[in-house]
Amino acid sequence: CSKTDTPAAATAASAPPAPAAAKVYVVGTDAVYAPFESQNDKGEIIGFDIDMLQAVADKAGIQVKFVNTPWEGMFNTLGQGDRDILVSAITITDERKQSMDFTDPYFDARQLIAVPKDSKVTRFDDLKPLRVAVQTGTTGDEAVSKLLGKTSTKLKRFESTPLALKELESGGVDAVVADNGVVAHYVANNTAAGFKAISDASFVPEQYGFVVKKGNAELLAALNKGLAAIKADGTYDQIQARYFGA
Ligand code: ARG
Repeated sequence: CSKTDTPAAATAASAPPAPAAAKVYVVGTDAVYAPFESQNDKGEIIGFDIDMLQAVADKAGIQVKFVNTPWEGMFNTLGQGDRDILVSAITITDERKQSMDFTDPYFDARQLIAVPKDSKVTRFDDLKPLRVAVQTGTTGDEAVSKLLGKTSTKLKRFESTPLALKELESGGVDAVVADNGVVAHYVANNTAAGFKAISDASFVPEQYGFVVKKGNAELLAALNKGLAAIKADGTYDQIQARYFGA
């Protein structure tokens, strides 16, 4: 073989250094939470939260990739470095703020009760003697834990909200307490099953934020800047209207 035939080495020596590939931030989302995050027939992750964060990322000039991530254990993925950002209709709470950083709020929410159409329940207090399903570790879980007692056998916890709603359909519980957007979406899209939504003034107002690892000030600032930009230029209102009407 020829001693002069070393094209690879020659190219490597003369070519400019390859640009560092732009970082792609990995976004964890529990995609069984329509209309905020779900998967379409093609397995693509879609929804209000996805459109919001994508618009924020575009304005912030960062690249993001959404990865389906179960709600349980989701918060730990930040510490392990598996996820850079979480978007999952996550309510900003004082307790969570101890261990993770939230952006400015991007959505207002409240708890809402789903019951069968013929249920006599008219307010949250009426659930006291009943069996209630929630998604584990959510603000709905927190509210019902306060009402029934944390260890009540009438409180049934599920790893996803669809599983809690399935339990309602099969008659295993009398009610589900979850975020209003998800309950309203479920009641509207399962007319055959015959459920209604009950609101109650005692539920505290909640706000959703995007989450980053505690102390990741740079990424947090970028997301807040992007969020402010989409609020200013009308993109935010467009996405709100697309999913929830004007
Ligand atoms: N907003 C509620 C909370 O933060 C429920 C969020 C659940 N989100 C989800 N994608 N499963 O506790």
